[in-house]
Amino acid sequence: MQERLAPCIACHGGGTSENEGVPSLGGQQADYVVTQLFQFREKQRAAEPMNDIATGFSDDDLRTYADAVAALPAPAWSGTAADPALVARAQALISKHQCNSCHGADLAGRDAIPRIRVQREEYLARALAAYKSNARPGYDPAMNEVAQGLSDADIQDLAAYVARL
Ligand code: HEC
Ligand code: HEC
Repeated sequence: MQERLAPCIACHGGGTSENEGVPSLGGQQADYVVTQLFQFREKQRAAEPMNDIATGFSDDDLRTYADAVAALPAPAWSGTAADPALVARAQALISKHQCNSCHGADLAGRDAIPRIRVQREEYLARALAAYKSNARPGYDPAMNEVAQGLSDADIQDLAAYVARL
């Protein structure tokens, strides 16, 4: 598995991604990863290079890769803390849209709902914008519905805050 995971780690890092636009995978919920690898394989989530990479994955491969990336160490924020005005705006949005009711009190996810805490900021912003435009359908429509209520400024605030938890 170590060998099969090497190309993934080359892009995604050993848990924490250093590459712009490439999400961190460490500590991600394995059940969520299975849904996304499935969506990549079936071209339901259009995203290069993952569509090509997942082509030819068996169902067993989806689970094997998911369990392996979920076992990588979760990212931890080590930069400066978010400024208090940003924290207040983002926490108000999180409470209004009940992000915690699905993603968990600490936004670490559960079952097939992803960990989002300390995910890369630009990736989070792009994901939320893609749900809003329906470019990313999601395995269920929850996020597409939530994102309809978010302005571009809300998306920037949420991404900046969640990335710095
Ligand atoms: C050449 C770089 C590259 C390689 C190699 C690569 N990935 Fe990715 N991966 C990406 C990018 C970029 C995205 C974000 C796609 C998007 O939504 O725009 C992504 C997204 C993902 C996601 C979705 C994460 C989320 O939070 O929704 C998973 C899971 C994933 N990759 C797993 C893997 C696995 C497993 C491998 C190895 C078999 C792998 N990747 C190899 C670049 C790569
Ligand atoms: C009703 C449950 C629910 C609520 C409420 C909810 N989410 Fe989600 N969220 C999900 C599910 C399910 C997914 C996975 C969907 C998919 O397949 O892409 C997801 C995915 C995401 C992703 C993509 C993560 C990744 O790694 O690609 C982000 C970012 C996100 N949610 C942020 C939020 C934020 C911020 C809020 C509040 C404004 C929120 N969510 C509210 C259920 C929810």
